[in-house]
Amino acid sequence: MIDTIFPIRQFKHLTTPFYYYDLEVLRATIDAVKQQVDGKPFRVHYALKANANPKLLKIIKDKGFGADCVSGGEVQAALDAGITADKIVFAGVGKADWEINLGIDQGIFCFNVESLPELEIIHELATPKNKTAKVALRINPDVQAKTHAYITTGLEENKFGINLSELDEVLQKVKVLRNIDLIGIHVHIGSQITDMSAYADMCGKINELQLYFENKGFKLKHINVGGGLGVNYEQPDAHLIPDFESYFRVFREKLNLRPGQIVHFELGRSIVAQCGSLISKVLYIKKGSTRQYVILDAGMTELIRPALYQAYHHIQNLSSGLPAQTYDVVGPICESTDVFATDYRLPETKRGDLIAIRSAGAYGETMASRYNLRNLPDSYTSDEVRGVEFYPNKKRPSRSF
Ligand code: LLP
Repeated sequence: MIDTIFPIRQFKHLTTPFYYYDLEVLRATIDAVKQQVDGKPFRVHYALKANANPKLLKIIKDKGFGADCVSGGEVQAALDAGITADKIVFAGVGKADWEINLGIDQGIFCFNVESLPELEIIHELATPKNKTAKVALRINPDVQAKTHAYITTGLEENKFGINLSELDEVLQKVKVLRNIDLIGIHVHIGSQITDMSAYADMCGKINELQLYFENKGFKLKHINVGGGLGVNYEQPDAHLIPDFESYFRVFREKLNLRPGQIVHFELGRSIVAQCGSLISKVLYIKKGSTRQYVILDAGMTELIRPALYQAYHHIQNLSSGLPAQTYDVVGPICESTDVFATDYRLPETKRGDLIAIRSAGAYGETMASRYNLRNLPDSYTSDEVRGVEFYPNKKRPSRSF
């Protein structure tokens, strides 16, 4: 059983807000994934978009995962972390020429191709280099992911991927593009998926697609099933490690694999969400006529998920053990959506209390912005912080108060 422990004494020396990553949780999470995939024809490409912090990437790389990237910047970050090109997949609907060139020059494992014009440009750029680009076609399986509409991607009507109705035309083209090597298919239906039946439906579609490709004379070596496994935002401590067992079981049981085929997974959130918290300090308690507000020094600039998707994040007061009261917990940004929670029960809270906003390891730091000209916050890992009284060499003056 693993726990998140907050080293509050050390936190008091650090300038808030900051991201705190519990590396024990991260390592235990990765090990739980490895338990499911090691020894099977399963490969995990960690989705950097969830969190590209180099300290986390190093651990992920050391555990042997590859990378799922959606920009040249992410491809470079993966390479910088030591993830070798043969473990990098590169997706995205709008790959710029320089990004495609980077992928070709580095010899990445695979481009996940999202449209016919993109396929043609990859061919055009690979040809003068005398290189063959390996590609997987990203296909819209038209499966309902049963998650938030903003993060559903596998439906027919979508900017992502190639629709089933276009597939025939794309395959005709693949046959004549000599510097393109079609090695597989790619499917991704959405994110924060907790209903495993969505994945079972997706596997059914993949099985049909396999037959379709075989009828057209294509043998697929690689099946990329994307990412999307959800985490428990309501009770992070009770569910620090996502249910990888149920997730991988679906693919073991429902996919009709051919001999030698390899299944690729692009997990992001489920690997990093629960190891991260956004640590913030209370600036003010403001009492209105009917509500009282906890005003934090962190806002939507550090964690945009509540403002953008009405997402719930568990909030903890790390400093107070007083009886609970009801608050709206808000940030300092000049936007009325800059609210972390309304009618939230917290121990009586005072100026200067430390607050942890949980499950912020995924899509927190990578989606941070400098809106209102705020500084991008620092990040600390448990390995750096624990057992250290403060940062004697780094001289981090506390900006607060
Ligand atoms: N593969 C593809 C093609 C994707 O589009 C995504 C996520 C992933 C893998 C990784 O999905 P994950 O395992 O992390 O669910 N910012 C939103 C989530 C956007 C997800 C975009 N695509 C949020 O904070 O909920």
